[in-house]
Parts: sequence; C-alpha cells; structure tokens
Amino acid sequence: MTREKPKNLWLSRWGFVLAATGSAVGLGNIWKFPYITGEYGGGAFVLMYLACILAIGIPVMMTEIAIGRRGRGSPIDAISRVVREGGGHPAWKAVGSMAMLAGFMILCFYVVVAGWAFAYTWKMLDGSLAASSVEGLAQVFEAHNANPWALGGWSVLVALLTLWIVGKGVQAGVERAFRWMMPGLAVMLLILVGYAFTSGGFDRGFAFLFSFDTSKLTGEALLAALGHAFFTLSLASGAILTYGSYIPDGQSIVRTSFMVAIIDTCVALLAGLAIFPIIFANGMDPSAGPGLIFMSLPLAFQQMPFGTAFGVLFFAMVSIAALTSAISMIEATVAYLNEKHGVSRTKAAIGSGAVLLTISLLAMLSFNVGADWKLFGTTLFDALDYLTSRWMMPLGGILMSLLAGYCLRAEIMRDELDLPPLGHALWLYMVRYVCPVLILMVFLHALGWLGF
Ligand code: PFF
Ligand code: NA
Repeated sequence: MTREKPKNLWLSRWGFVLAATGSAVGLGNIWKFPYITGEYGGGAFVLMYLACILAIGIPVMMTEIAIGRRGRGSPIDAISRVVREGGGHPAWKAVGSMAMLAGFMILCFYVVVAGWAFAYTWKMLDGSLAASSVEGLAQVFEAHNANPWALGGWSVLVALLTLWIVGKGVQAGVERAFRWMMPGLAVMLLILVGYAFTSGGFDRGFAFLFSFDTSKLTGEALLAALGHAFFTLSLASGAILTYGSYIPDGQSIVRTSFMVAIIDTCVALLAGLAIFPIIFANGMDPSAGPGLIFMSLPLAFQQMPFGTAFGVLFFAMVSIAALTSAISMIEATVAYLNEKHGVSRTKAAIGSGAVLLTISLLAMLSFNVGADWKLFGTTLFDALDYLTSRWMMPLGGILMSLLAGYCLRAEIMRDELDLPPLGHALWLYMVRYVCPVLILMVFLHALGWLGF
C-alpha cells in the first residue's frame, strides 16, 4: 500500500514547532493555570500537574503527532488511514470525531476569554484601569461582564479574526505570526517576574507555587490537573494531530514533543511566578476565580515605570497568544471539510463560523443575562470547559494510547517515533499501562466509584 502524500507541509524546519507551540501556549498558561492553581491551593496542584505533563501529556503528544504524520490528514481521515494500514477496527475514527468536537467546543468558550484579553488591551490604553484599588479592578471586571454588548462585541471580534486567518490557509496565515510572538511573550513574562520579585510578595508567591501540604493532594485536584495537562498541551482536540500531519518525514517527533511541552510548562510557571507575588503583596484572594489575572496584573502595571505602555503590550501579547491557540482549535474541522468534502477553506471557515458565533454568544451570556441557564448544573461557559477538560480530552487520550499501544502493528509507531530501543520501550510502557490506568483511576474517582 502506498503512503498518503502530504498535501500541505510546513514551510520550514521550525514550522511545526512554532505552530504547535503557538497552539499550546495560550490562555491555558496565562489565564487558566494561575486561576485553577489558586483554586486548588497551590503547590500540590502544581506538582500533580507537572506529573501529568510528564507521564501522560508527553507520551500522548508523541502518539498524536505520529498518527497525524502517518495518516496525513484531519483527525478522522488520519486515524482511518493509519488503522487501515496498521490494523484495528475502522470505528477508531470516532476518536478523531470526538477530538474535533472537543476542539470546537473549547473554541466556543475560549473566544470569550480571549475577548477579555483584547478588551483589557484597550482598557489599559483608555485609562479605565488606572488608579484602581483591588476592589476597583474587581468592579471593572464585573462591569465588563455584566454588559453583553461589550463582552459579546469582543468575543465576536476574536471569532472573526480566527476564522479569517484559518480561512486563508495554514502556511500563509499561521506560520508567519508565530515567529516573533513567542520570544516577545517570554521576555515580557520575565520582566513581570522581575517586577514581582520587588513587589514584596515574592516569597509567599513562590512558596504558594512550590511548597505543598499533602492534605491538598486530593482526587479532585488530580482530576483538574489531568484535564489541564491535556488542555494546556492542546491534546485530544484535533489541533496537535492536524498540525502533526503537516510535518515532513524525517523530522524528530520525540524531540519536538519535548520542546513544545517544556516551553509550554515554562510559560505557565513564569505566569504563576509573575502573578502570585502581586496577589499576595496586595492582599488578594488567590482563589478569586476566572477574573484572577485581570484583577491583579493591572495593579502591577500601575506601579511600575512605563506601566501603561508595558500593560498594553502585555495584554496585546496575550491576545495574540490566544489567537494562535484559537486558530489551531478549528484547523482540524476546516481541514476535514476541505479534504473530505472538497469545501474550500474559506467556505469551511464561514460555515463553522456560523455555528461558532451562535454557541459562543450563548456562552458569553453566561456572565450576564444567561447566568441562570444551567446545563449539567453549571452555566454554558463552565459546562463547555468542564465537559472538554474533564471528560472528552482524557477519554481521547486513553483511546489514542490504547490504539497506539495495543492495536497498531508495532512498526508503525516504531517508524514514526524512531526512538532507540530503550526509549521506545519506555514510550510503549507509558501508553500501554501508565496513561490508561491513571486516566481510568481519575475517571472512576470522578464517578464516585473510587475514593481517594
Ligand atoms: N493549549 C491552549 C492553551 O493552553 O491555551 C488551549 C488549546 C488549544 C486547547 C488548542 C485545545 C486545542 F485544540
Ligand atoms: Na498551554
């Protein structure tokens, strides 16, 4: 059987690394990581999160990229082809459908959060964040969310930008933007950490992140940590697999996976080191929830030299990081419609855009007029986050591990990963035993069938 010829390839050797890092590094690192770390009490959560990245995130990422490259297509097509070549039931392609659905569902609430970052870039400029106290900033955030027109307007803007870039196609639209953005974001985070060092709360912030008390190692926190490991690395949501399908043969999947995971983790830890000292120095509550960074960082910008300019730049960078992640969430769907059904990328973007706009506007209403509309006992915004991070992505991860670990003929993954024997054995051990058992335990706990 002849292997599928790639239709699209990254332009340069760095194309995949840049795009996958662009997908991975986003609001998950700068917004979600600090806020859930705050909610779960700090160090114990961070430790479990790091363990999940290492034991599950990296092996699953290698698996996904390998399947994408081997099958050369959107998640559904790639899995179908790999199964046809390597053995396994055609029904495995359902894992691809679930991943695409997860990516799309994430996008529906992600554009709302990205809208916050865009709006705060503007609010830094127009002075509405100047000279505010902790309470004042909380009020600004609440007032912004209470107004569906403001909140919806920014979400729509993000959605349209995303669709426009994706509609234009991978190489042209995506690859260029990643180049200058990532180093810029890293430098700004380092400067913020430097500021946090002088803020008077550094010791407490550092201790909060890295020292833990064992009573906080709970099953509930492990569940959150596992879900976040998938979310932050963009796993089991179509993004990494589809981007992987554009990697040239011969480029090391293992090396790139480690690179992406390490960069992503460093950005999250830097964000934590920048934010928590400011929170403690100003007597804020680390478990303040989704508004945490928007209510704390402007305080630092007020107090530092050139703070306004710096704040504008910072929120602009976060907005761009969010956009590069958003693009990757819908890339799988657009690639699927394009390859499978011959719909042009532009038309595919417009079609999926209509659905996206409808659902994301409903999710946006969770913060104001729709605060009482409940789905599974939570608002639509929280339900989208909960269903994807807690259930769909870990489930996708288990299934992908089982497919690669048990069903496919061994030489497929051996070819693609191209590891020395010991390394390969280690990967195999992870996808056969560690990932499925750990994820299953966490599921059983979530269902209340396993107490810990
Ligand atoms: N990894 C992104 C972040 O940390 O912000 C979020 C994400 C992107 C999740 C792409 C899923 C995805 F397909
Ligand atoms: Na991330």
